[in-house]
Amino acid sequence: RKKVTTRTLARMKQNKEPIAMITAYDYPTAKIAEQAGAEIILVGDSLGMVVLGYDSTIPVTLQDMVHHTKAVARAAKSAMVIADLPFMTAHLSKDEVLRAAGRLMQEAGAYGVKMEGGSEILANVTTLTSAGIPVMGHLGLTPQSVNQIGGYLVQGKDVGTARHLLAEAKRLEEAGSFAIVLECVPEELAQLIAESLTIPVIGIGAGRFCDGQVLVFHDVLGIGGDWHPSFVKVYQQAGKVMQRGIEDYVQEVKRRAFPDEQHVSHLSSDLIAVLYG
Ligand code: KIV
Ligand code: NA
Repeated sequence: RKKVTTRTLARMKQNKEPIAMITAYDYPTAKIAEQAGAEIILVGDSLGMVVLGYDSTIPVTLQDMVHHTKAVARAAKSAMVIADLPFMTAHLSKDEVLRAAGRLMQEAGAYGVKMEGGSEILANVTTLTSAGIPVMGHLGLTPQSVNQIGGYLVQGKDVGTARHLLAEAKRLEEAGSFAIVLECVPEELAQLIAESLTIPVIGIGAGRFCDGQVLVFHDVLGIGGDWHPSFVKVYQQAGKVMQRGIEDYVQEVKRRAFPDEQHVSHLSSDLIAVLYG
């Protein structure tokens, strides 16, 4: 498969070909996503909740993102790797946001970055796109603002906020974003935004009419928490398979069933004779 670029995605939108995006946080998960044919692998700051055990994305640092993006980039041969700018980074000075995005691309190997927000970060979006850094926007429910929003709630449910989201999406497009993630908005609003923009709109909890979909890797495979958002579809109960596998291993160790003949090596009988005298 050829390398996925911003042009690939633009063409897919034109041809009404859905874009598949999924998160990954390390080498093996990224390899699975790559081999499954996802166009975009997102090293999301959901890393904090999914892999690092925090209860929001707020504690995730740039160093965390660099570390995990490096592992993902080593596995992604053709998929586009996008890394999240962590909490607050999109609001820092022009120099600092450039340096952060620069590290994710140059040091960690990301293709581009994703940043949460609209008007309030627009100047920094322009700063990055002017520097040749591909920027993916993120509107609707922006988890880095969870404490301000007061929970993980559907956004754009009234005319005012719906119109505001549409306007913000257009501003991000004008600032040079190559795509936008739209999280937790009503299907009809997501459809209007997708139809109003020329750049791809990737939905999560945003209905059927976006230009693509994104989900969290561990949610799709039923790994980790018992709880997941209602928009998630669990395609496999891999968490249960993993649990059973490790339980079997522990039990076999305890009753000395592992290792068995198949998993050991032997000395020659001559050497055994010498060693045992
Ligand atoms: O961090 C993340 O996983 C995300 C996606 C859910 C869009 O931002
Ligand atoms: Na994120």
